[in-house]
Amino acid sequence: MNNFPPQMINKQPDFHSDAYRDAYSRINGVVVIGETLADRHFRSLAKSIPDDHDLLLSLAAMESRHAVDFVGCGRNLSIRADTSLARKLFDPLHKLFQECEHNGNLAGCLVIQGLIIESFAIAAYQEYLPVADPYAQPITELVLHDEEQHINYAECWLKAHFKEAKNEVSSICSKALPITLSILQTLTNDMRTIGMNPIELIASFSERFQSALETVGYKGSSARRLIMRSTLSVPLT
Ligand SMILES: [Fe+2]
Ligand SMILES: [Fe+2]
Repeated sequence: MNNFPPQMINKQPDFHSDAYRDAYSRINGVVVIGETLADRHFRSLAKSIPDDHDLLLSLAAMESRHAVDFVGCGRNLSIRADTSLARKLFDPLHKLFQECEHNGNLAGCLVIQGLIIESFAIAAYQEYLPVADPYAQPITELVLHDEEQHINYAECWLKAHFKEAKNEVSSICSKALPITLSILQTLTNDMRTIGMNPIELIASFSERFQSALETVGYKGSSARRLIMRSTLSVPLT
């Protein structure tokens, strides 16, 4: 059962049209690869933060379940995820995570996975929820709840280490935000085809990410400036 007003339900696309199926295969690919990488990232964080080892492994297990569940959403519509495009799109972000990991830059790892990827996931799932098919809707709702736990973990860790990590946080934001937005830019047409509004998505992403930066320790104006500086170079089509 959903709680959306009738005008939202009327907006629902034709889940079986060729255009929907084609666009969904790429969107679903990005979701599945995003969740698979999130699993890997939390597992490596579990090794790097022994105090939170078990908690981080449980977050990784959630991400792995999300990937399986979203593969199921594609299967339900008889659509196969286009994972090759998704891998290419995520590769620079994943490499940046690995670079931070290699350099012992834990704050950088947590910003990439815990703040940026999680804010992106929350904004995307929120925007997808009203136009999701009836099978995907309850799954997306449950996943959204889990993603909030993940961002909360990163917010708490970064808040506790803000003094020594602030420069790293700012520096990684300026590298990772343009990459994240270019993933979004590649998918704008496909998002529109499946009923999502990419402009709303970017607005929700900025809002959630700014709130995360403020929770971590940035003043509102500094958080806004950091986001603006890092995103202005990526125009939305
Ligand atoms: Fe997830
Ligand atoms: Fe997550």
